[in-house]
Amino acid sequence: MAKADQLKRLIASYGRPDEFRAIATKIIEDEHRKGHIPLAAALRRTLDAHVRAGVDTLTTPRSSSPGGLVNAENLTDPALELVDILEPKRGLAEIVLSQEARAAFDRLLEEQRRADELRRHGLTVRSKLLLCGPPGCGKTLSAEVIARELDLPLLTAKTDMLISSLLGQTASNLRRLFDYATRRPCVLFLDEFDALARSRTDSGEHNELRRVVNSLLGMIDRFKSRGVLIAATNLETTLDDAIWRRFDDVVHFSTPCAEEIGRHLSILFKNFPVNFQLATVVPKLAGFSYADIERVSQDAIKTSILKKRKSVTETDFAAAIKSQTGRSAPRRRDRNSRT
Ligand SMILES: Nc1ncnc2c1ncn2[C@@H]1O[C@H](COP(=O)(O)OP(=O)(O)OP(=O)(O)O)[C@@H](O)[C@H]1O
Ligand SMILES: [Mg+2]
Repeated sequence: MAKADQLKRLIASYGRPDEFRAIATKIIEDEHRKGHIPLAAALRRTLDAHVRAGVDTLTTPRSSSPGGLVNAENLTDPALELVDILEPKRGLAEIVLSQEARAAFDRLLEEQRRADELRRHGLTVRSKLLLCGPPGCGKTLSAEVIARELDLPLLTAKTDMLISSLLGQTASNLRRLFDYATRRPCVLFLDEFDALARSRTDSGEHNELRRVVNSLLGMIDRFKSRGVLIAATNLETTLDDAIWRRFDDVVHFSTPCAEEIGRHLSILFKNFPVNFQLATVVPKLAGFSYADIERVSQDAIKTSILKKRKSVTETDFAAAIKSQTGRSAPRRRDRNSRT
C-alpha cells in the first residue's frame, strides 16, 4: 500500500491537478515495483480517465463512469442534498420484464449506446422514460438496471427534500437538481413523480403546484443531458395531461403473469436448490407482486438454511406463502390477476 505520507500529500494537493498527477504517478510506480501489476494498471486507468495534466477535471464534465460518484465537486455541490447517488449493481439478467417493457428498454439502450451516430444525422436520442404501475413491480429496479446497462451513475431525486412548503422553493430545488444532473452523464430518477407532476386542473390544487408543474414541464423539455431521465409513479391517473407527451416512452408495469412468475422464480432460486418443481407453486403466487414473490422465496430459503436442509422444500415454500398472504391480504382481495 502507498505510504501514509504519500496519501496525505495526495489529499493536500486537491485543486492542483499537476501536483496531484505527479504524486499519484509516484504511488502507481511504487505499486508496480512491488509487483502489484493489476492494481497499478487499474490506478493508471483511473488517473488517466479523471485527471488530465494542467486541467482541473473536477469542475469539468467528463466521460461517463460511475467513478464520477466520488469526484470532489460532488462533495461540495449544494444540490447533493437533493439526490442519492448510487453505483447501480443489478442488470438486465436480474429483472423480469414484459415483452413491451423489454422492447422499450432495448430501444432506449441501443439509441443511447449509438447516440453519436444518431446525432450526426441531426436526430434526437431517446432519453426520457415514464414508468407506471403498482408497488413492487420493478419501476425503481428498472432505473437501476438501465443505469447499470449504460454504465452510468444513478441519481435518485429525494422527493421529500425537493418539495418545500416555502413559496417558489420547490421549483428552484427542481432547477438545482436538473442543473446538477445535466452537468454529468447519469440516469436521473424521479420517483413518486405524481407528487411533482399532479394535474393542474385538480380543483383542490393551488397556484404553487401550477408553478411547479409548469417549471417541471420546461425542465423536462430542456433536459438534453448525455444521459437518461426516468420518472416513476403508481398514481398515473393523477398526472397532469401535459406530462405524458414529454416522455419518449411510457412503460406500464403490473403484477406478473404465470410465465413471468416462473422466470422470476428461476432467477431467485438460481443459487439455491429446490426439491420440487418450481412450476407447481406458480399458481399459488397469482396476484403477488415481484417484491412479494422475492420475500416469499427468501423466507423459504432462510428456513431451509436454518433447518440445515440441503434444498428448499415445498412445505417451506407453502409456509412462506401463507405468512406473506397474511401480510398483504387487503391488497390482494381486490386483485386483478393475469394468470
Ligand atoms: N420485474 C422485476 N423483476 C425482478 N425483481 C423485481 C421486479 N420487480 C420488483 N422486483 C424485486 O422487488 C424489489 C422492489 O421492487 P421495486 O422497488 O422496483 O418496485 P417499485 O415498482 O419501484 O415499487 P414502488 O411503487 O413501491 O416504488 C426490487 O428491488 C426487486 O428485488
Ligand atoms: Mg419504487
